[in-house]
Amino acid sequence: MTEGGPVGESAFFELTRVGPGTVMGEFMRQYWIPAGLSSELEPDGDPMRLALLGEKLIAFRDSGGRIGVMDQRCPHRCASLFLGRNEDDGIRCVYHGWKFSADGTCVDMPNVPNQENFRDKIRAKAYPVQERAGLFWVYMGPRETPPPLPQLEVAMVPEGETIIEPVLRDCNWLQALEGDIDTSHFGFLHVGHVQPEDLTTDNPLYHTVTNRAPAYHTTTTDWGASYAAFRDGGPDTTYWRFANFMFPFWTQQPQGTFNTHVHARAWVPLDDHHTMFMNVMWTGMTEGVEPTMADGSPIEGLQLRNDYVERSTDWFGRWRVRHNESDDWGIDRQAQREGRIFTGIADIHLQDQAVTESMGPVTDFDFEHLTVSDQMIATTRRRLLDAARDFRDNGTPPPGVDRPEIFREARSGFFLAPDEIDWRDAYQAQTQVMERPGNPLPAS
Ligand code: FES
Ligand SMILES: [Fe+2]
Repeated sequence: MTEGGPVGESAFFELTRVGPGTVMGEFMRQYWIPAGLSSELEPDGDPMRLALLGEKLIAFRDSGGRIGVMDQRCPHRCASLFLGRNEDDGIRCVYHGWKFSADGTCVDMPNVPNQENFRDKIRAKAYPVQERAGLFWVYMGPRETPPPLPQLEVAMVPEGETIIEPVLRDCNWLQALEGDIDTSHFGFLHVGHVQPEDLTTDNPLYHTVTNRAPAYHTTTTDWGASYAAFRDGGPDTTYWRFANFMFPFWTQQPQGTFNTHVHARAWVPLDDHHTMFMNVMWTGMTEGVEPTMADGSPIEGLQLRNDYVERSTDWFGRWRVRHNESDDWGIDRQAQREGRIFTGIADIHLQDQAVTESMGPVTDFDFEHLTVSDQMIATTRRRLLDAARDFRDNGTPPPGVDRPEIFREARSGFFLAPDEIDWRDAYQAQTQVMERPGNPLPAS
């Protein structure tokens, strides 16, 4: 079932652009944005260039440990505060020495006589910041008092129990995110070279390579949208694989045991053409069985290496991997031709990166032809567009901004359930018995 109609051509401009004043940009600014890893910023360390939603910001951690995120332009004469001195609980512009604390307060104006008269009138354009789950989060919206952080399960686990894998991607956020909810690509892009006879029948990939045109359900939910792929799981039993889209740019993927699969994947728009993927995982996730060939040898093409290059101070210099468009993502034509790896690209994440970046900086959506296998993508686009327009036209608060607890109900993964249970009931039943990370929710 696909809800809502297709999205028209002009709507893609609204969906993909994220700068100030754009439909999606204003919509996303209502939410807390996971902007980086807490570990990226050290007290009195170098300021970091940070692009977010098309704005050029700097981030730094002051002597007392507080994080400042602000417009890179000094409010005096717009010199970049990236060049600034991060010292004694604030950042000092190197041009004329004005100094700002993490919240943007101007604390020194040493080139101005009687500075007291003027200092109180000046503020750096700083955004509220919070730290949780190993991430620092930025609120770029208009509210005087920001909304609460979203209660994504993985954002609520005890301190120190998250693993985060960021990767920069050189394309628009929407096409990057859509790779995660495009379920039928798995049987081609990742395991197109694997045949059923290569695997034992209990291998989690066995059905993927047996039926490469899977049927699935989709629906809208409080947190965004969900799909469930299904197949026979034995006598009177259905094998379900659930996955989610969560506002405004989060996904949960189905490759893991539902019971402990506490994770979320952010596709954070840095600008219209660059996206920071952040895979946030709970350390208590039990590993799924590492899929191997029937003879025990590893399946080629499923390695996950994230082969990072040395970071630079460029706006897009963090968490870059070695291969990119300039070297055709390291494609090995011989491996492709011989059928050792369907794509010829060895790393599973890089396979996704290659296809979504190959679409161009922003996909020409007018050129594409969605079909029934793309129903989750169509549902998600429609859900996003409707919510963003409802906010723009009617001021309706974006889903979950004032009800952060709705994100806590989103979980993905696979499980078995009796045949006679409806798919949404099967999901509800599974959430009643699943493991929850051991952290009481804060009073909200
Ligand atoms: S431009 Fe920053 S102090 Fe003058
Ligand atoms: Fe993929």
